[in-house]
Amino acid sequence: MVHVLFVCLGNICRSPMAEAVFRHKVWEAGLLDSITIDSAGTGDWHLGEKPHQGTRDILQKYKIDDSNMFARQVVSTDFSKFEYIVAMDDSNVENLKGFVGTEEPRSQVFKMLDFLPEGQAGNVPDPYFTGNFEEVYEMINTSSENLLAHIRADQNI
Ligand code: 4NP
Repeated sequence: MVHVLFVCLGNICRSPMAEAVFRHKVWEAGLLDSITIDSAGTGDWHLGEKPHQGTRDILQKYKIDDSNMFARQVVSTDFSKFEYIVAMDDSNVENLKGFVGTEEPRSQVFKMLDFLPEGQAGNVPDPYFTGNFEEVYEMINTSSENLLAHIRADQNI
């Protein structure tokens, strides 16, 4: 089993969108038995909340399941459970360092836009502040496809 965790700040806009879009692609590829997907935030303001209405509207528009996602915060054991941690922006990567515990980490930390050819070193803009969920969906959709291809090649699945 391969474990993938998407991380943003609040775990209500970008990382649940990435979780749902990526899970949809894993489902389409028939790989739900091989890859598990989750998301978390570095902040704790929205614990237990469903995704932001803007994220739910986008997922419904593209007929992607948005059920059973509730915001949680990153925990130190995430670094021993998840092989792939995919952050939405540089500040998430920086904040993640504060959660590393004493266990030997086995996670590789990436940024979502590492998986866009033109997006090297880029950040997924935060629609909580920009209001532009469609732009974020386009980035997440394309980078999810490339992330899945990367993991399949990496893991031979
Ligand atoms: P997200 O967006 O990191 O994409 O979930 C945010 C959601 C909430 C807050 C910040 C960003 N907040 O400050 O409450």
